[in-house]
Amino acid sequence: MARLKILFVASECVPIVKTGGLGDVVGALPPALRARGHDVRIVLPRHRQAKSYPAEVLPGPLGVPVGAGTCWTGVYRAEIAGGVPVYLLEHDALFDREGVYGDASGEFGDSLWRFLFLSRGALELCRHIDFAPDVIHVHDWQAALVPVLNPPGGPATVLSVHNLGYQGIFGVGELPRMRLSPEQERDVEYFGNVNLLKAGLTRATLLSTVSPRYAREIQSADGGAGLDGLLRQRRRDLVGILNGIDEARWNPATDLHLPATYDPDDLAGKARCKAALQEELGLPVRPDVPLVGLVSRLAEQKGIDIFVDALGYLAGLDLQFAVLGSGLAWAEQVFDRLSATTSHFRARIGIDDALSHRIYAGADLFAVPSRYEPCGLTQLYSQRYGTVPVVRGVGGLDDTVDHEVSGFKFQELSGRALALSLAWAADCYRHRPEHFQQMQRFSMRKRMGWNRVAAQYDALYRLAIARRRGRL
Ligand code: ADP
Ligand code: GLC
Repeated sequence: MARLKILFVASECVPIVKTGGLGDVVGALPPALRARGHDVRIVLPRHRQAKSYPAEVLPGPLGVPVGAGTCWTGVYRAEIAGGVPVYLLEHDALFDREGVYGDASGEFGDSLWRFLFLSRGALELCRHIDFAPDVIHVHDWQAALVPVLNPPGGPATVLSVHNLGYQGIFGVGELPRMRLSPEQERDVEYFGNVNLLKAGLTRATLLSTVSPRYAREIQSADGGAGLDGLLRQRRRDLVGILNGIDEARWNPATDLHLPATYDPDDLAGKARCKAALQEELGLPVRPDVPLVGLVSRLAEQKGIDIFVDALGYLAGLDLQFAVLGSGLAWAEQVFDRLSATTSHFRARIGIDDALSHRIYAGADLFAVPSRYEPCGLTQLYSQRYGTVPVVRGVGGLDDTVDHEVSGFKFQELSGRALALSLAWAADCYRHRPEHFQQMQRFSMRKRMGWNRVAAQYDALYRLAIARRRGRL
């Protein structure tokens, strides 16, 4: 089949910059597409976090029209796994900052201009490096203006929604300074606001999201975050493609972050990982007690309040908890306090990739009590490491966990329901060890790599190209 030229536009990409699962996906899908023979390239902002990544500067600068003026932009070229080129657009006034989307004092106030810059910059870059993509694959609201700015006769566009809860909403007073045509302004406007995701959902040739169930949920009033009407209108152009995981980076048999490695045929190393994790965190080193892990952004979406409620219900049971996360200040405080005042609970506040690997490996159970979850990767990583996930049956969690086969599921959004499910799972760990180990081995052997997923995107791109050319 013909080789495609594909441009990814996103705000994050592992291992250059990551705040969540979006970075994992953008760092892993392009190498899998390249392995299928495609010429795939990525455009990212050169966030401060990206500056330590090796890159060569290209002749420039590139002029990107934003607001009243032109942003003069340095262009850097780096490479990630498989030799996939990444173009980093440097404009320090917009991106040389402590955080990616905000800092200790909150979200950055100028993100409209930061990501208008990214979208216009990506299109300008194609001319600058003489790259004419067949399809541009844009991710989330940060890149959602690309389909709107894409000129008639330009490439097909695919917009992937990783999280409908973040739309890029700004005051309508900014509209005149965005320098859009009246038609583009209509795409961008939504109930008296500027809404970047809505604009992309209106204009992209095809739409995708990261699990089949989430693709259905977002078409309902409950899950649609105000955009369900538009998504229902476009339901024939919307598909749910389940994320994969990078099976090389997340592999308990080779993982250099672990004190011991293991595989489904021999779980002895996992017991060593558990003891080392208990010791590292200052938990009593006991093989018999079920250890529950949680690695998460501490955000409302993730049901952290539910988790805290569940801890109350579980107080009488002999369980341990290992938590890693950062985000909501109240949650950080509660976790710090519990760590200081109890012997069975330890939290580390912050972002720590190496520790996350040690928790996926060292825990027995893993809690994911999300309010909603487009796909979710942590339940996939824990399955890969033989750590049995206890998840709420929503979105991609529902699609990737089979109750009593690869994990445990509960439905009701309450601390009580999570506590019951964790208690049931802990009981299985203690009293049905053969069944528990069967679940561990089954999950570890599941194939969750990107190759099959890349084949689905390949088909989606070809459909988008045919559609854009008016053939479908
Ligand atoms: P989301 O993108 O909504 O945060 P996902 O489950 O898709 O949720 O992906 C989360 C990713 O971020 C996973 O790779 C997870 O290991 C990682 N992660 C979350 N919190 C932390 C943290 N505090 N330290 C290190 N990695 C984290
Ligand atoms: C988002 C979602 C998460 C998903 C990730 C990668 O951050 O919240 O569910 O796994 O994107 O697609």
